[in-house]
Amino acid sequence: VTPQLWSGRFTEPVSERVKRYTASISFDYRLAEFDIQGSLAHANMLAHQAIISQQDLADIQRGMSEILADIHAGQFEWLLDLEDVHLNIEKALTTKVGDAGKRLHTGRSRNDQVATDIRLYLRHNIDGILQLIRAAQTALLDLAETHADTVMPGFTHLQVAQPVSFGHHLLAYFEMLKRDAERLTDCRRRVNRLPLGAAALAGTSYPIDREMVARELGFDGVCENSLDAVSDRDFAIEFTACASLIMTHFSRMSEELILWMNPRFGFIDLADRFCTGSSIMPQKKNPDVPELIRGKTGRINGHLVGLLTLMKGQPLAYNKDNQEDKEPLFDTVDTLIDTLAIVAEMLPGIRVKPEAMRNAALQGYATATDLADYLVKKGLPFRDAHEAVALAVRHAETQGCDLADLPLVSLQQFSSLIADDIYEVLSLEGSMNSRNHIGGTAPAQVRAAVARGRAQL
Ligand code: ARG
Repeated sequence: VTPQLWSGRFTEPVSERVKRYTASISFDYRLAEFDIQGSLAHANMLAHQAIISQQDLADIQRGMSEILADIHAGQFEWLLDLEDVHLNIEKALTTKVGDAGKRLHTGRSRNDQVATDIRLYLRHNIDGILQLIRAAQTALLDLAETHADTVMPGFTHLQVAQPVSFGHHLLAYFEMLKRDAERLTDCRRRVNRLPLGAAALAGTSYPIDREMVARELGFDGVCENSLDAVSDRDFAIEFTACASLIMTHFSRMSEELILWMNPRFGFIDLADRFCTGSSIMPQKKNPDVPELIRGKTGRINGHLVGLLTLMKGQPLAYNKDNQEDKEPLFDTVDTLIDTLAIVAEMLPGIRVKPEAMRNAALQGYATATDLADYLVKKGLPFRDAHEAVALAVRHAETQGCDLADLPLVSLQQFSSLIADDIYEVLSLEGSMNSRNHIGGTAPAQVRAAVARGRAQL
């Protein structure tokens, strides 16, 4: 049994149960690389300020590079007795290099150390996530470009509303992801501040240079209040909120994919490699991947609420409660990365069935608004036009046909303003093409939006 580094003050060791309960090594070993990165910058500063010697620094650097190699080789032994990643690494360093290892923790506390580690970890992952968002956005742009002219029914209340381009529909998700990326980029600015120097809570009496450490670690600046630096995890909560929104967007998309794959819609088919079968029903092909995306969104939302709840009752400054920030945060990062990667892979594998989309758009009087707008352009007040078209729809319904299937004379019963140019207006393509302004569904606009999107990435 390795005695705890802090055990000097105690008359008996903690029980095995307490050790297991309070240790975080089973999950925070994942911070190792960032912990070492932070320690090296701290040691560098200590030597620069002559708080430790150049020889100490050299020993620490040598020891840390050996430890890093051991970790990479899977040969580093993480000990529960040493509680967490920080004490495990510090102890190993001391074993390797002696007194220099014991000097590393000068002017530092695990409280500012762990806050630094999490920020480095999060910054690294935000950068990776931003790249993955771009990959998903590219997949959306590609599919949208291919389907700029593909007509589908647009829905409100999940009832047929107006014809839209399938490409236009996809670009709605592109916009959501654009905002998600903006939010993460903004969140990164607040993540990217250095807590080190705050020490336990009050700062330190050594002549440290925090700016130097911040520069070396690539932080934009230092946390300006030591109590705040060690105790708040708002940056992690903010990140998780960003993650919740990204997942929510993919959850909505997943819900649509699942619906569209149902034979009643039959708008798309997902590549077999994203589906699974049933152990009892031989005919089944289930959209497991989108279902799980929808499901995992609940889990991330749970992490967000978990972290908010973790924080809400804590007095300043550091409390051990904060150790509970890691598992939800790690799981959020892992789940988000997996989801983004699988979405970017799944989108190109979607087989679109334009005929089914078109047939669905032809049912439900999707161009009724176009008829009303036609009458308005001929001088009828909109409310009167709305009424006339409603009667025409009722009539078409009794005939069991679409508005465009009614002969001109019968359409003219509802307004004498209707002439034979109405059939172009009532067509799906005519309707789509007429919405030709920025943000509209006209295929020309969809292509322009795709071009703008590509330029933005
Ligand atoms: N494992 C701890 C955490 O995750 C590190 C900081 C512990 N500090 C302390 N004074 N016990 O928050």
